[in-house]
Amino acid sequence: MEKVTVETFSEKKAKGEKITILTAYDYPTAKLIDEAGIDAILVGDSLANVILGHENTLAVTVDEMIHHTKAVARATKRALLIGDLPFLSYQTSAEDAIRNAGRLIKEGHAEAVKVEGGSGVMDKIQAILNAGIPVMGHLGLTPQWIHQFGGFKVRGKTTEAAKAIVRDAELLEQAGVFSIVLECVPWQLAKLITELVSVPTIGIGAGPYCDGQVLVLHDILGLSDKFTPKFVKQYAQLNEAIKKALAEFLGEVRGGKFPSLEQSYSMAEEELKKLVEEMKKGVH
Ligand code: KIV
Repeated sequence: MEKVTVETFSEKKAKGEKITILTAYDYPTAKLIDEAGIDAILVGDSLANVILGHENTLAVTVDEMIHHTKAVARATKRALLIGDLPFLSYQTSAEDAIRNAGRLIKEGHAEAVKVEGGSGVMDKIQAILNAGIPVMGHLGLTPQWIHQFGGFKVRGKTTEAAKAIVRDAELLEQAGVFSIVLECVPWQLAKLITELVSVPTIGIGAGPYCDGQVLVLHDILGLSDKFTPKFVKQYAQLNEAIKKALAEFLGEVRGGKFPSLEQSYSMAEEELKKLVEEMKKGVH
Protein backbone atom coordinates (compact mmCIF):
# COMPACT_ATOMS: atom_id res chain seq x y z
CA MET A 1 0.00 0.00 0.00
CA GLU A 2 1.68 3.18 -1.15
CA LYS A 3 0.44 6.38 0.48
CA VAL A 4 -0.93 8.90 -2.01
CA THR A 5 0.57 12.37 -1.57
CA VAL A 6 0.37 15.59 -3.56
CA GLU A 7 3.53 14.38 -5.33
CA THR A 8 1.60 11.36 -6.60
CA PHE A 9 -0.74 13.76 -8.40
CA SER A 10 2.04 15.31 -10.52
CA GLU A 11 3.63 11.89 -11.09
CA LYS A 12 0.31 10.60 -12.40
CA LYS A 13 -0.08 13.56 -14.75
CA ALA A 14 3.45 13.01 -16.06
CA LYS A 15 2.72 9.31 -16.69
CA GLY A 16 -0.71 10.01 -18.20
CA GLU A 17 -2.43 8.00 -15.45
CA LYS A 18 -5.90 9.20 -14.46
CA ILE A 19 -6.45 10.49 -10.91
CA THR A 20 -9.60 9.35 -9.07
CA ILE A 21 -11.30 11.30 -6.28
CA LEU A 22 -14.58 10.84 -4.43
CA THR A 23 -16.20 12.75 -1.61
CA ALA A 24 -16.78 11.20 1.81
CA TYR A 25 -18.16 12.66 5.00
CA ASP A 26 -18.04 9.73 7.44
CA TYR A 27 -15.96 6.76 8.63
CA PRO A 28 -17.65 3.80 6.89
CA THR A 29 -17.81 5.29 3.39
CA ALA A 30 -14.29 6.71 3.69
CA LYS A 31 -13.04 3.22 4.61
CA LEU A 32 -14.72 1.71 1.54
CA ILE A 33 -13.27 4.40 -0.74
CA ASP A 34 -9.79 4.09 0.76
CA GLU A 35 -9.81 0.30 0.46
CA ALA A 36 -11.08 0.49 -3.14
CA GLY A 37 -7.85 2.25 -4.12
CA ILE A 38 -9.34 5.66 -5.01
CA ASP A 39 -6.46 8.20 -5.00
CA ALA A 40 -7.99 10.93 -2.85
CA ILE A 41 -10.94 11.61 -0.59
CA LEU A 42 -12.46 15.07 -0.56
CA VAL A 43 -14.50 16.10 2.44
CA GLY A 44 -16.39 18.57 0.28
CA ASP A 45 -18.46 21.47 1.49
CA SER A 46 -21.19 19.52 -0.33
CA LEU A 47 -21.47 18.15 3.22
CA ALA A 48 -23.99 21.00 3.55
CA ASN A 49 -26.47 19.73 0.98
CA VAL A 50 -25.60 16.02 0.70
CA ILE A 51 -25.51 15.22 4.43
CA LEU A 52 -26.88 18.16 6.42
CA GLY A 53 -29.90 18.82 4.18
CA HIS A 54 -29.20 22.47 3.25
CA GLU A 55 -30.28 23.86 -0.13
CA ASN A 56 -26.70 24.66 -1.19
CA THR A 57 -23.17 24.63 0.22
CA LEU A 58 -23.19 28.11 1.79
CA ALA A 59 -24.38 27.27 5.30
CA VAL A 60 -21.75 24.74 6.36
CA THR A 61 -19.28 25.94 9.01
CA VAL A 62 -15.60 25.28 9.62
CA ASP A 63 -16.50 23.40 12.82
CA GLU A 64 -18.88 21.12 10.92
CA MET A 65 -16.25 20.52 8.24
CA ILE A 66 -13.69 19.60 10.92
CA HIS A 67 -16.12 17.25 12.69
CA HIS A 68 -16.65 15.24 9.48
CA THR A 69 -13.03 15.45 8.31
CA LYS A 70 -11.92 13.90 11.61
CA ALA A 71 -14.23 10.91 11.07
CA VAL A 72 -12.99 10.46 7.50
CA ALA A 73 -9.37 10.74 8.64
CA ARG A 74 -9.83 7.82 11.05
CA ALA A 75 -10.65 5.58 8.07
CA THR A 76 -8.18 6.95 5.55
CA LYS A 77 -4.91 5.06 5.37
CA ARG A 78 -3.82 5.26 1.73
CA ALA A 79 -5.77 8.01 -0.04
CA LEU A 80 -4.80 11.68 0.10
CA LEU A 81 -7.26 13.47 2.40
CA ILE A 82 -8.43 16.87 1.19
CA GLY A 83 -10.64 19.18 3.27
CA ASP A 84 -12.79 21.86 1.65
CA LEU A 85 -12.65 25.41 2.99
CA PRO A 86 -16.29 26.50 3.34
CA PHE A 87 -17.92 29.81 2.36
CA LEU A 88 -16.42 32.86 4.14
CA SER A 89 -13.75 30.83 5.89
CA TYR A 90 -11.05 32.30 3.61
CA GLN A 91 -12.60 35.07 1.47
CA THR A 92 -12.47 37.54 4.38
CA SER A 93 -8.68 37.80 4.89
CA ALA A 94 -5.39 35.99 4.40
CA GLU A 95 -5.25 35.55 8.17
CA ASP A 96 -8.64 33.82 8.28
CA ALA A 97 -7.57 31.70 5.30
CA ILE A 98 -4.42 30.46 7.07
CA ARG A 99 -6.22 29.93 10.40
CA ASN A 100 -9.10 27.94 8.91
CA ALA A 101 -6.93 25.93 6.50
CA GLY A 102 -4.67 25.23 9.49
CA ARG A 103 -7.65 24.02 11.56
CA LEU A 104 -8.64 21.55 8.83
CA ILE A 105 -5.09 20.20 8.94
CA LYS A 106 -4.42 20.31 12.71
CA GLU A 107 -7.86 19.36 14.03
CA GLY A 108 -9.42 17.55 11.05
CA HIS A 109 -6.20 15.75 10.03
CA ALA A 110 -6.64 16.70 6.36
CA GLU A 111 -3.45 16.69 4.29
CA ALA A 112 -4.47 19.42 1.85
CA VAL A 113 -7.28 21.94 1.42
CA LYS A 114 -9.48 22.90 -1.52
CA VAL A 115 -10.25 26.55 -2.19
CA GLU A 116 -12.82 27.85 -4.67
CA GLY A 117 -12.03 30.84 -6.89
CA GLY A 118 -9.30 32.45 -8.97
CA SER A 119 -7.84 35.97 -9.17
CA GLY A 120 -10.29 37.35 -6.57
CA VAL A 121 -8.92 35.12 -3.80
CA MET A 122 -5.37 34.56 -5.08
CA ASP A 123 -3.77 36.42 -2.13
CA LYS A 124 -5.59 34.07 0.28
CA ILE A 125 -4.51 31.00 -1.70
CA GLN A 126 -0.93 32.25 -1.73
CA ALA A 127 -1.03 32.85 2.02
CA ILE A 128 -2.22 29.27 2.67
CA LEU A 129 0.50 27.90 0.38
CA ASN A 130 3.11 30.07 2.09
CA ALA A 131 2.03 28.53 5.40
CA GLY A 132 3.04 25.12 4.02
CA ILE A 133 -0.44 23.79 3.32
CA PRO A 134 -1.04 22.16 -0.10
CA VAL A 135 -3.94 23.72 -2.00
CA MET A 136 -6.27 22.26 -4.62
CA GLY A 137 -7.81 25.06 -6.72
CA HIS A 138 -11.39 25.04 -7.98
CA LEU A 139 -12.57 26.97 -11.07
CA GLY A 140 -15.61 27.10 -13.34
CA LEU A 141 -18.87 26.59 -11.51
CA THR A 142 -17.74 27.37 -7.98
CA PRO A 143 -20.86 26.74 -5.85
CA GLN A 144 -19.85 29.30 -3.18
CA TRP A 145 -20.41 32.00 -5.86
CA ILE A 146 -23.84 30.67 -6.74
CA HIS A 147 -25.79 33.84 -5.99
CA GLN A 148 -23.37 35.91 -8.07
CA PHE A 149 -23.66 33.43 -10.96
CA GLY A 150 -27.47 33.37 -10.74
CA GLY A 151 -27.71 29.60 -10.43
CA PHE A 152 -25.99 26.34 -11.24
CA LYS A 153 -25.07 26.98 -14.87
CA VAL A 154 -22.21 25.79 -17.08
CA ARG A 155 -19.35 28.35 -16.96
CA GLY A 156 -16.89 29.40 -19.66
CA LYS A 157 -19.14 28.94 -22.69
CA THR A 158 -18.17 32.23 -24.39
CA THR A 159 -14.65 33.18 -25.51
CA GLU A 160 -14.44 35.95 -22.87
CA ALA A 161 -15.70 33.77 -20.03
CA ALA A 162 -13.41 30.91 -21.11
CA LYS A 163 -10.39 33.28 -21.25
CA ALA A 164 -11.04 34.36 -17.65
CA ILE A 165 -10.98 30.72 -16.51
CA VAL A 166 -7.76 30.07 -18.49
CA ARG A 167 -6.15 33.12 -16.83
CA ASP A 168 -7.23 31.90 -13.38
CA ALA A 169 -5.84 28.42 -14.10
CA GLU A 170 -2.48 29.97 -15.01
CA LEU A 171 -2.52 32.09 -11.84
CA LEU A 172 -3.23 29.00 -9.72
CA GLU A 173 -0.41 27.12 -11.45
CA GLN A 174 2.01 30.01 -10.75
CA ALA A 175 0.87 30.21 -7.12
CA GLY A 176 1.80 26.53 -6.70
CA VAL A 177 -1.46 24.61 -6.22
CA PHE A 178 -1.08 20.84 -6.60
CA SER A 179 -4.22 20.40 -8.73
CA ILE A 180 -7.19 22.32 -10.11
CA VAL A 181 -10.81 21.17 -10.06
CA LEU A 182 -12.70 22.28 -13.17
CA GLU A 183 -16.43 22.15 -12.52
CA CYS A 184 -19.13 22.40 -15.19
CA VAL A 185 -17.13 23.85 -18.06
CA PRO A 186 -17.24 22.78 -21.72
CA TRP A 187 -15.04 19.76 -22.34
CA GLN A 188 -13.10 21.63 -25.02
CA LEU A 189 -12.09 24.33 -22.50
CA ALA A 190 -11.12 21.70 -19.91
CA LYS A 191 -8.98 19.96 -22.55
CA LEU A 192 -7.21 23.22 -23.46
CA ILE A 193 -6.48 24.01 -19.80
CA THR A 194 -5.28 20.44 -19.15
CA GLU A 195 -2.81 20.76 -22.00
CA LEU A 196 -1.75 24.27 -20.96
CA VAL A 197 -1.00 23.90 -17.25
CA SER A 198 1.55 21.63 -15.64
CA VAL A 199 -0.62 20.83 -12.62
CA PRO A 200 -3.23 18.06 -12.85
CA THR A 201 -6.79 19.12 -13.70
CA ILE A 202 -9.61 17.26 -11.99
CA GLY A 203 -12.93 17.40 -13.82
CA ILE A 204 -16.47 17.32 -12.55
CA GLY A 205 -18.79 17.95 -15.45
CA ALA A 206 -15.75 18.93 -17.52
CA GLY A 207 -15.50 16.03 -19.95
CA PRO A 208 -13.08 13.14 -20.40
CA TYR A 209 -9.81 14.97 -21.10
CA CYS A 210 -8.96 16.17 -17.58
CA ASP A 211 -6.12 14.48 -15.71
CA GLY A 212 -8.58 13.09 -13.19
CA GLN A 213 -12.21 13.01 -12.14
CA VAL A 214 -14.02 13.82 -8.91
CA LEU A 215 -17.65 13.06 -8.05
CA VAL A 216 -19.88 13.12 -5.01
CA LEU A 217 -20.12 9.61 -3.57
CA HIS A 218 -23.86 9.80 -2.93
CA ASP A 219 -24.45 10.77 -6.57
CA ILE A 220 -22.59 7.79 -8.05
CA LEU A 221 -24.28 5.42 -5.59
CA GLY A 222 -27.78 6.70 -6.39
CA LEU A 223 -28.22 7.63 -2.74
CA SER A 224 -30.24 10.79 -3.18
CA ASP A 225 -33.73 11.51 -4.38
CA LYS A 226 -32.77 15.03 -5.45
CA PHE A 227 -31.98 16.27 -8.96
CA THR A 228 -28.91 14.54 -10.41
CA PRO A 229 -26.82 16.65 -12.84
CA LYS A 230 -26.10 15.48 -16.42
CA PHE A 231 -22.42 14.83 -15.61
CA VAL A 232 -23.19 12.20 -12.96
CA LYS A 233 -23.14 8.51 -13.77
CA GLN A 234 -24.90 6.26 -11.26
CA TYR A 235 -22.97 3.05 -10.61
CA ALA A 236 -25.56 1.76 -8.13
CA GLN A 237 -29.16 2.54 -7.11
CA LEU A 238 -28.83 2.42 -3.34
CA ASN A 239 -31.92 4.55 -2.79
CA GLU A 240 -34.07 1.75 -4.18
CA ALA A 241 -32.13 -0.92 -2.28
CA ILE A 242 -32.54 0.99 1.00
CA LYS A 243 -36.26 1.63 0.43
CA LYS A 244 -36.77 -2.10 -0.17
CA ALA A 245 -34.83 -3.05 3.00
CA LEU A 246 -36.78 -0.55 5.12
CA ALA A 247 -40.12 -1.80 3.84
CA GLU A 248 -39.11 -5.40 4.62
CA PHE A 249 -37.98 -4.49 8.16
CA LEU A 250 -41.24 -2.64 8.78
CA GLY A 251 -43.31 -5.54 7.48
CA GLU A 252 -41.40 -8.21 9.40
CA VAL A 253 -41.51 -6.43 12.78
CA ARG A 254 -45.20 -5.66 12.40
CA GLY A 255 -45.89 -9.22 11.23
CA GLY A 256 -43.91 -10.83 14.11
CA LYS A 257 -41.40 -12.35 11.70
CA PHE A 258 -38.44 -10.41 13.06
CA PRO A 259 -36.70 -11.13 15.34
CA SER A 260 -36.90 -14.94 15.25
CA LEU A 261 -35.10 -17.07 17.85
CA GLU A 262 -32.18 -17.15 15.45
CA GLN A 263 -31.57 -13.47 16.22
CA SER A 264 -32.18 -13.94 19.98
CA TYR A 265 -30.01 -14.91 22.97
CA SER A 266 -30.93 -17.90 25.13
CA MET A 267 -30.13 -19.04 28.67
CA ALA A 268 -29.20 -22.52 29.90
CA GLU A 269 -32.19 -24.78 30.71
CA GLU A 270 -31.05 -25.23 34.34
CA GLU A 271 -30.70 -21.51 34.95
CA LEU A 272 -34.11 -20.94 33.47
CA LYS A 273 -35.70 -23.59 35.73
CA LYS A 274 -34.09 -22.04 38.80
CA LEU A 275 -35.30 -18.61 37.76
CA VAL A 276 -38.88 -19.78 37.22
CA GLU A 277 -38.91 -21.55 40.62
CA GLU A 278 -37.49 -18.55 42.44
CA MET A 279 -39.96 -16.27 40.75
CA LYS A 280 -42.81 -18.53 41.84
CA LYS A 281 -41.52 -18.18 45.42
CA GLY A 282 -41.40 -14.45 44.89
CA VAL A 283 -37.62 -14.29 45.40
CA HIS A 284 -36.66 -11.73 42.84
O1 KIV B 1 -17.89 19.99 -2.25
C1 KIV B 1 -17.74 19.19 -3.17
O2 KIV B 1 -18.23 18.07 -3.11
C2 KIV B 1 -16.96 19.63 -4.32
C3 KIV B 1 -16.88 18.86 -5.58
C4 KIV B 1 -15.70 19.23 -6.42
C5 KIV B 1 -17.14 17.44 -5.63
O3 KIV B 1 -16.38 20.66 -4.24
